[in-house]
Amino acid sequence: MSREIADHLRYYAELGVTGLSRDAKWRARADAVPEVRLKADATGQSATESLDLIETEIGPACTRCKLCTLGRTQVVFGVGHPKARLMFVGEAPGEEEDERGEPFVGRSGQLLTKIIEAIGLSREQVYIANVIKCRPPNNRNPEPDEVAACEPYLFRQIDVINPTVIVPLGKFAAQCLLKTTDPITKLRGRRFDYRGTTLIPTFHPAYLLRNPSAKREVWDDMKLVRAILQGDA
Ligand code: URA
Repeated sequence: MSREIADHLRYYAELGVTGLSRDAKWRARADAVPEVRLKADATGQSATESLDLIETEIGPACTRCKLCTLGRTQVVFGVGHPKARLMFVGEAPGEEEDERGEPFVGRSGQLLTKIIEAIGLSREQVYIANVIKCRPPNNRNPEPDEVAACEPYLFRQIDVINPTVIVPLGKFAAQCLLKTTDPITKLRGRRFDYRGTTLIPTFHPAYLLRNPSAKREVWDDMKLVRAILQGDA
């Protein structure tokens, strides 16, 4: 038990959280986090089928853009609950994601998992996808023709999952979803209406690995996400 508490405190410390609130209302809210409910099973079943259809349509050997000739191992579709109320969108698979076929499993992914757990959820309860489903060579930025070929599938994933909140991770995903060239520093800290959901852009975990002090702002963003999921904001 004390080990579990120590682990939990480490998540928070890693996220840059340095204190706990004694405010009874806030504590009651925090305790309620595990109650964040997933949508009903029947719609979950049909969402699973719809996501499977999209994945099948993309196919395991997609050739819709040049990334298929530039060394990608496999298409990395997305992972998580088909009716998640919270969805994260990253940029593109990196080396480990390309090898394992799952988004955010490398170092940034491990930090993302901690961020998810810090608001009382698990990776299985949320959905994680990328704008681009194939790894760009040497992790270069995705190019406009690659985005144009791939983003319709992300939009279809979003429409099926229909989350309450979408969190684009970093500049690339935020700019792609919002169709803006505004910098992430201008986009984060704000909430946007987006395809019937609320979009809360935040920094990319890879940026947090290079700039740990920005974890504080991400924690602020995640507290807002949690409050929205609980109907408190
Ligand atoms: N960075 C991303 O944007 N997506 C991943 O899946 C991994 C790292």
